[in-house]
Amino acid sequence: MYIETVKKTMNLPEKVRIFDTTLRDGEQTPGVAITVDEKIRIAKKLDKLGVDTIEVGFPVSSPGERKAAREILKLDLNSSICGLARPLKKDLDAAIDCGVDYIHTFIGTSPLHREYKLKMSKEEILNKAVEGVEYIKDHGITAEFSAEDATRTEFDYLKEIYTAVEDAGADCINVPDTVGVMIPTSMNYLISELKQEINIPISVHCHDDFGLAVANSLAAVEAGAQQVHATINGLGERAGNASLEELVMALTTRYNIKTNIQTELLVDMSEFVSRITGIKMPPNKAIVGENAFAHEAGIHVHGVLQKAETYEPITPEMVGHTRRIVLGKHTGANAIRAKLDEYGIELNEEQFERVFNQVKSLGDKGKCITDADLKAMAQTVLGKA
Ligand code: KIV
Ligand code: ZN
Repeated sequence: MYIETVKKTMNLPEKVRIFDTTLRDGEQTPGVAITVDEKIRIAKKLDKLGVDTIEVGFPVSSPGERKAAREILKLDLNSSICGLARPLKKDLDAAIDCGVDYIHTFIGTSPLHREYKLKMSKEEILNKAVEGVEYIKDHGITAEFSAEDATRTEFDYLKEIYTAVEDAGADCINVPDTVGVMIPTSMNYLISELKQEINIPISVHCHDDFGLAVANSLAAVEAGAQQVHATINGLGERAGNASLEELVMALTTRYNIKTNIQTELLVDMSEFVSRITGIKMPPNKAIVGENAFAHEAGIHVHGVLQKAETYEPITPEMVGHTRRIVLGKHTGANAIRAKLDEYGIELNEEQFERVFNQVKSLGDKGKCITDADLKAMAQTVLGKA
């Protein structure tokens, strides 16, 4: 309702490309290491999911990274296969030797990165970036350029370096919010300003240090960004990157923007990555969490049983999830009746009353009532236990 009104003020693209970096930034999640075989399995699933680009790793960093890139390329997937590289010959050659069709090259541009990390001048950094992009293009490969820490870089310099790489032949510029310092309004402003200077597609890469990665990515899309970087389950350095499942569902259902993602595969993808990485999702994680479509309060359950939209913004089927009715102290009679019906258990009014009171009393003691508990209570009142 309200969103339809504000959408008229936005510069929305029709379609947004999804650049998945689960296997690169996602693998930088503290405590996560993904083997070559696991990378191959994840890449196959990402391809089925429909991501446009899979950033498979940082080839120069290890033989395993190069092996993974080579093996994934042999699969001949529909997604573009991208390797990360600094604009250094050894990095670029490592990626090129693997046979990637897409290179994401990056260099720090903010005063902090220039002074403390790179110890290079603005001009030296700009020249390196241009040389890197030219080298990639000389090899006939798609080039995406990131000004690392773009969101803490002086705007005039950012404009200058992005314009220079565009002139050098870059296919896309990416704007990383490397330490997640943006808020949606500032991200929207930055992308709107860059849109006036840059003629190639603009991408964003948002980190979640303040829990704003998805919101900031959406704000960038509102300003005309045509690609977003994301990871399954929001994995990534520190607090992670924008979560692919949240971003895609917001784009498709809130903005009506198309992506190539098969959304009904999202829960399966999330669980697969969670099993491989050992990073469990909190139950209340949006879209894919165990509780994303679970209802406990009597009023909510009553509403959902009449019409699911009363308390669900999208259907669980859209993302491959299932609706759950959970029993606890907030449970109403409707939920218990629905559960008993589901199990084919018939109780008379007096028996039902006894089960209902037991559910409430256990709930008040801070207990959650599982389906098995409910069945046992019903069997007891039926004298079958
Ligand atoms: O967060 C970041 O800046 C990155 C770069 C490599 C683009 O991951
Ligand atoms: Zn990052």
